[in-house]
Amino acid sequence: MPTLFDPLRIGNIELDNRIIMAPMTRSRADDEGVQPEYAATYYAQRASAGLIITEATNVSPMAKGYIRTPGICTDAQIESWRSVTKSVHARGGKIFMQIFHTGRIALPDFLPGNAQPVAPSAVRANGQNYTDEGMKEFVTPREITREEIAQTVADFATATANAITAGFDGVELHSASGYLVQQFLTTNVNLRTDEYGGSIENRTRFLFAVLDAMVQAIGSQRVGVKFSPQIAFNDIEERDADAVELAFDMEAQRFFIEADHRREVPAAQDDMVDFRVLQHEQHAFAVRAVGEHNDLAVGRDAGRKDSFHAESAAAL
Ligand SMILES: Cc1cc2nc3c(=O)[nH]c(=O)nc-3n(C[C@H](O)[C@H](O)[C@H](O)COP(=O)(O)O)c2cc1C
Repeated sequence: MPTLFDPLRIGNIELDNRIIMAPMTRSRADDEGVQPEYAATYYAQRASAGLIITEATNVSPMAKGYIRTPGICTDAQIESWRSVTKSVHARGGKIFMQIFHTGRIALPDFLPGNAQPVAPSAVRANGQNYTDEGMKEFVTPREITREEIAQTVADFATATANAITAGFDGVELHSASGYLVQQFLTTNVNLRTDEYGGSIENRTRFLFAVLDAMVQAIGSQRVGVKFSPQIAFNDIEERDADAVELAFDMEAQRFFIEADHRREVPAAQDDMVDFRVLQHEQHAFAVRAVGEHNDLAVGRDAGRKDSFHAESAAAL
């Protein structure tokens, strides 16, 4: 039985130990999304973890949903992250960047020209968000167009490549916590009648388009994804989380077909569960999951997996 301090392989990356620092928004960047010098100190102080996952980072100006959050689009943003990765690597650590788009959780206050935020459908989230002028109610978003969806997928790919340029060891897609990717997955925010809404296949289309674009950009061995099934944060309701998870499971086998590498990834078993990191036995990339359905996404033993597949296949 491996201990917390034993090495761990994720994709083609060797971690010194199994301690993984969860992504945490810090809101310390300037208004241009550039990290301050002391971000390098902050992350380097934590470099003895096997892996650091950064605070969620905006893939484009329209992605920004929180005050003073960093980006990974402009040269200045990329440079500011380069000092972070350098400092972590100098201490022998490994670091992934987490990237996101907040969709309807953004306030016009954070967007270019005080733009209206975008979401799969024009459904306002109940709740408030912090601004320098105090808490403000979420606003009704505008339905994102198909052209904008294609552009957003491209933005995720560019952000992924930029993260590698900035020296990151890998990139994690934030598909949790009620942000844009999860908004597409859920029936209470996604009311679309085109190929991005309705069936599970349609609702997962954006997720897979983004993952595929990320993998095209840097290869599957350095791409991760975070889910938080059935966590209601940011006014999300997931009535069919199990079936969505299964769709992910099945579809991912088609998408991430670096068959030669699959065997290198050890099966996810009990020793992984505590750290919420999955090295799926069939996938060549890392998946983390938080929430009530941890056991489905993380702790699959053979018997459980079979019954889950059978049960959810029926739901599909
Ligand atoms: C202050 C704070 C900021 C967070 N920011 C992020 C974030 O940027 N990205 C993310 O995926 N999760 C974020 N989270 C969620 C954590 O990564 C983690 O999933 C959550 O705290 C549940 O884990 P725990 O039960 O160990 O606290 C944040 C949590 C806190 C408390």
